[in-house]
Amino acid sequence: MAGKPATAAKAKSPAQLSLTVNGTERRAALADGDMPLVYWLREELGLTGTHLGCGKGECGACTVLIDGQPARSCRTTLGEAAGKVVTTIEGLGTPEAPHPVQAAFVEEQAAQCGFCTPGMVVEGAALLARTAQPDLAEVKEALDGHLCRCGSHQRVLKAVMRAGGRDKS
Ligand code: FES
Ligand code: FES
Repeated sequence: MAGKPATAAKAKSPAQLSLTVNGTERRAALADGDMPLVYWLREELGLTGTHLGCGKGECGACTVLIDGQPARSCRTTLGEAAGKVVTTIEGLGTPEAPHPVQAAFVEEQAAQCGFCTPGMVVEGAALLARTAQPDLAEVKEALDGHLCRCGSHQRVLKAVMRAGGRDKS
């Protein structure tokens, strides 16, 4: 059978996954669909702000937003994120214009070693997106399941409360 023109063959290149990460469309090989999203973000895109802790969905360090909802990227495959909008800690704000939760973490010095911090900040940002001024119980509930081996939880709570315009008394 006669071969197709090179241009036609190129148009039928291997199927790809597509998703939006921090406002930019990204593509990946369909064969990588079973890869945990956190690996792809860190190793393929270089977005190392998303941390890999337990890898079992138990610590929260790998939390990102998928279509605005917090999700554990160690338990979400690249294929599951296909067609969706992913926001990592790098996409929340910039050093010049930080997200209010990022700014509040700085104000409250809520990070110690910083390993848990990206997941905490992303979770806090998701909370503020759905509840503008959460009370302490709501902040605690949202951050339940985010582990901090440095014991900075009290300062984290203060930071998220501050970002929502409330003092933690
Ligand atoms: Fe994903 Fe711990 S690394 S929850
Ligand atoms: Fe070190 Fe939370 S600041 S793990």
